[in-house]
Order: sequence, then C-alpha cells, then structure tokens
Amino acid sequence: MIAIGSDHAGFTYKERIKELLLTLGEKVQDAGPTSAASTDYPDWGHAVAEAVSTGKVDRGILICGTGIGMSIVANKHKGVRAAVCESVTSARLARLHNDANILCVGERVIGWESVVDIVTAFLKTRFDGGERHARRVGKIHSLTNL
Ligand code: RB5
Repeated sequence: MIAIGSDHAGFTYKERIKELLLTLGEKVQDAGPTSAASTDYPDWGHAVAEAVSTGKVDRGILICGTGIGMSIVANKHKGVRAAVCESVTSARLARLHNDANILCVGERVIGWESVVDIVTAFLKTRFDGGERHARRVGKIHSLTNL
C-alpha cells in the first residue's frame, strides 16, 4: 500500500501519479487534498509520513512545488527516510543506498515524463541490503531519536 499526498502546487501530479500507481498494480491510499485550493503542505506531509512511520502503509509519495517542503516535514517522523528526487538516478540510488521509504517530487520543477520514470524507478528498485548500506541506514535512526 502506498500513501500519497500533496499541497495545491502538487495536486495535479498527485492525481496523475495515483492513476499511474493503479496502472502499475499498486494499492493507493490518498491522504488528500481533494482539490487544488490553496493549502499548507505540512498538513498533508505529516499525514503521509505518519502512515509510513506507523507501518500503516509500505511507502509514501509526496508532491509539492519543489518536493523540498514535503521532504523536510516527512523526515521529522520516526523511521521515515524521505528523498527529493529530480532524476531517475536519484530515485534508484535513494532506494539502493538509502532505502528511502518516501519519494518527494516537485510539480514546479520536473516534467511529467520524468515523474513517470522517477516513480517507476522508486517502486521497482530494491534496497541494496549490503552490510555497508545497512549500517549507514541504521545510523540515520540510531544517532537521532527519529
Ligand atoms: C507552495 O507555494 C510551495 O511553497 C510549496 O508547494 C512547496 O514548494 C514548498 O516546499
């Protein structure tokens, strides 16, 4: 199950990514919003990150204007590793090396074709799992309270 959320600046991509996820055979939990009316990204970012942090969903996708605000919000939650990705390489490496569990993208900074490739790479790439990367990912959490 993948939770998805956005603010007004990411609303169009949220709707389109939701369709993409369903096409890829994923189950989707839409945290909102339900319209493109002006809204505050932390409201939706916290909701999706909470769902990932508590294990209610496996992963999350958050969209705002740049992806940056959403990633800052999401990374305040225990167990969350949110990555802003603007390329397929970043999305692949965020999974391979960082075991990222939330993908953040910016509707104002990347075109739709790139988003399709980024989301697909994020979903299809497995964590490397090697000792080196597992140790580093472990330290993300063990050296903080998050
Ligand atoms: C909204 O105007 C914009 O600030 C927001 O979507 C996001 O880009 C913040 O990081």
